[in-house]
Amino acid sequence: MYTIEVNELTKIFGDFIAVDKISFKIEKGQVFGFLGANGAGKSTTIRMLCGILEPTSGDAIVGGYSVMNEPGKVKQNLGYMSQRFSLYNDLTVEENINFFGGVYGLTGHDFEERKRWVLKISDLERQQKILTGSLPGGIKQRLALGTAVIHRPPIVFLDEPTSGVDPVSRRNFWELINDLSSEGITILVTTHYLEEAEYCNKIILINAGKLIAEGNSKELKSNYLKDTILEIECDKVVNAMELLDKTDFVVDTSIFGNNIHISVNKNYKDETQIRSLFTGENSIQVKRIEKITPTLEDVFIHLLEKDKPVKMAN
Ligand SMILES: Nc1ncnc2c1ncn2[C@@H]1O[C@H](COP(=O)(O)OP(=O)(O)OP(=O)(O)O)[C@@H](O)[C@H]1O
Ligand SMILES: [Mg+2]
Repeated sequence: MYTIEVNELTKIFGDFIAVDKISFKIEKGQVFGFLGANGAGKSTTIRMLCGILEPTSGDAIVGGYSVMNEPGKVKQNLGYMSQRFSLYNDLTVEENINFFGGVYGLTGHDFEERKRWVLKISDLERQQKILTGSLPGGIKQRLALGTAVIHRPPIVFLDEPTSGVDPVSRRNFWELINDLSSEGITILVTTHYLEEAEYCNKIILINAGKLIAEGNSKELKSNYLKDTILEIECDKVVNAMELLDKTDFVVDTSIFGNNIHISVNKNYKDETQIRSLFTGENSIQVKRIEKITPTLEDVFIHLLEKDKPVKMAN
């Protein structure tokens, strides 16, 4: 049924809990998004799922094998693109492909066919002899993905594959991920870009090692954020946020470009409450107040705010 089943997986470094009893399941062919801030525990989880890092407790069955008991078998069954590119900058494109083909034991006709495929998806058919270090970021990422799956693994882990590349390259890269998933490859991908979560069949959000939300983008928006979200366009946004935070009708505030998003509770009746807050000595000019459908970012800010160990009184 499931290609990956994670059960209370935990990693403790010394007395620091980096991954705290997380459990989730991934179906075959799914694109599974793994989101969380810096240090949340994403890479540590991936390293355990790849069979590279031994869990402290818990287990995961990856492609039929236990990461706790059979890490060697787990490793043979997957592709892994680490957060820092796995490619060698001082080798040519062709040498990198040869290297990874060799690591995965590909030979003869099979290898030649896969090599052509990697060159094709990374748009490097006529540039095999150039140094990998001189490639543009977007192309290098495609080459890194190609080499990570050169042996046709049924499962692939991509750790922040799109960080630091331009939006067009990122979009192309996601198309490539979708192509792999439609061939039945199961993909777990971490990202910091919330808009990329929309490309995933399912998303989990982790914070400080704990899983705090799970679902597809639509479910996350409807299940975790019951409050109404308002967008306010005004001047002096920092002052405005301070004033809003002190009221009894605002749950949380955040900045989106030049606008403020607030979630409001049952004490909120209408926008005159906001306008009257901004008059008098404070005198903040309001251009627009509008009810909006929450973005994933609204949901996550709300969840992370809720998850803070010390809650501010409001
Ligand atoms: N080998 C280690 N020894 C001690 N602490 C570690 C080790 N590896 C990771 N950590 C800590 O575990 C926490 C989780 O790190 P991890 O790299 O998994 O986070 P991440 O979610 O991948 O972050 P980023 O988005 O920055 O890549 C961090 O606080 C990190 O410092
Ligand atoms: Mg990481």
